[in-house]
Amino acid sequence: MCRLESWINPESDQMLVEGKITGVDMAIKEIKKDVYWVGAVDWNISNFHGYSLARRGSTYNAFLVLDEKVTLFDLVPEKFKWDLYHQVHKLVAPDKIDYIVVNHVELDHSGALPFMVEKCSPERIFCSPMGEKSLLSHFHKPEWPVQVVKDGESISLGRKDVQFMEARMLHWPDTMFSYIPQDRLLISSDAFGQNIATSRLFDDEHDLNLLLDESRHYYTNIILPFSGFVQKTLARVKESGLEIDMIAPDHGVIWRTHVAEIIGAYQEFSSQKVRAKAVLVYDTMWSSSEKMIKALGDALVEEGIEIRLMSLKRFHHSDVMGEFSDAAALVCASPTHNNGMLPLMADFLTYMKGLKPKGRLGATLGSFGWSGEAPKAMAQVLEEAGFELPLEPLRVKNVPSHEHLAQCREMGRVLAGKIREKLSAQ
Ligand code: FEO
Repeated sequence: MCRLESWINPESDQMLVEGKITGVDMAIKEIKKDVYWVGAVDWNISNFHGYSLARRGSTYNAFLVLDEKVTLFDLVPEKFKWDLYHQVHKLVAPDKIDYIVVNHVELDHSGALPFMVEKCSPERIFCSPMGEKSLLSHFHKPEWPVQVVKDGESISLGRKDVQFMEARMLHWPDTMFSYIPQDRLLISSDAFGQNIATSRLFDDEHDLNLLLDESRHYYTNIILPFSGFVQKTLARVKESGLEIDMIAPDHGVIWRTHVAEIIGAYQEFSSQKVRAKAVLVYDTMWSSSEKMIKALGDALVEEGIEIRLMSLKRFHHSDVMGEFSDAAALVCASPTHNNGMLPLMADFLTYMKGLKPKGRLGATLGSFGWSGEAPKAMAQVLEEAGFELPLEPLRVKNVPSHEHLAQCREMGRVLAGKIREKLSAQ
C-alpha cells in the first residue's frame, strides 16, 4: 500500500493541464487518522431534481480509508469522475483500491462508479441488499464483484472495521450507513447533509445557526416524506449504543463538534412540530389576488402569528418549502386562469404534495374574471395532501373592494385562532 508521504503522482498535474478536473483542485483533508475526504465541490449547481441549489451549491463527499484494504466510501457524479480520481491519486495509486462501499446508489454518489471500477478493478463492491438490485438496474454490470452486506454485518479493513446499518428511505430504499468503531465515525450518506459548496469541511468552521438552517432546508426538500423512517433509524442508532463523535454525510460539512445538535435537529425535523407561523404563497395576474392574501396576512400579524409572504415569481418552490418546514399553516392565493390556477401555483402544489408535510392547516383564495375555479382547485390539492381546511375558499370577482378585503382579514383572524388551537394540542 502506498501512503501520502511516499506516493509520487506525476499524472496529477497532467490531469489539471488536460482540463479533466471539473471543479476546483481541493486540498487533501484527513478527517480521522488514515481517513481522507476525496470528494468534489459543485460550486455552480443550480438544481437537484427540482430542488433549487442556487443558494449555496453543493458538495459530494467521498472518503478514502488507507488500511490493509484500501477502501473508498461513496463516490461523486459522473461529471466529477476525474476530480475523484485526482483526489485519490494524491494519496495512493487508484488501482490500489481494494474495496468500494456504495452506501447509496443515487447517481450523485455512484455516477463515477463505472469509471472507478474500470480504473481500480476493486476486489469487492459492498452495498445493501436493495443496493445490489439498484446497482444492477442502473449500470447493468452483473460481472461487477458486488458483495451484499446485511444490517449489522461487519467487515475488517485491517486495523479498522466497518459495521453496516440499513437506513432505508434516507433517502432511497438502498441507503445504508457505514460505521467505523475505531474512529467513532458514522458515514451517513444523505442523512445529516446540507447543500453547501464550501472549502471549509468541518461544522465548527461555520456559523452553527446557518448550518442548522441549511440542514432544515435540505431535510424538508429531500427527507421530509420519509420522516417516519428517520425516527425509526434514530431510535435504532440510540438503541445500538454506537459511540459517535463524527458524522460524515455525503453532502455539506462534516459534524465533529456539533454531533449532538444535528442529531437533535433531526429528532425535531422528523417530528414535524410546527410553530405560530404561516407561509403565504401566491401568484397574481393584475394584483387582485396579491391584495387579498396581503389583507389576510395583515390580520395574522395583528393576531401575533409570524408570516412569510412569498411570491412564486420571486421564490423557487423549494425555497417556499424550506420556509414552510416549521409553519403551522399554508395560505395559497391565485387568480383563475383558463379555468384553473396559475401554472406557478400548480407547480408549487405538486412539489409540496410530494413532500407530504403532516398536520398542517390550509386556506385558499383568489380573484377571477368569469369562472373562478382556482381557490377550490387549490383547496382540493391541499385536502388531498392531508391539510385541515377550516375555511371555505374565498373568490372575488375582478378587483377586491374594501368589503372583500375585510373578508380576507376575517379569514386571517379565524385562521390565527385555528393555529393557536393546533399549537395548544401539540
Ligand atoms: Fe445525495 Fe439521494 O442522493
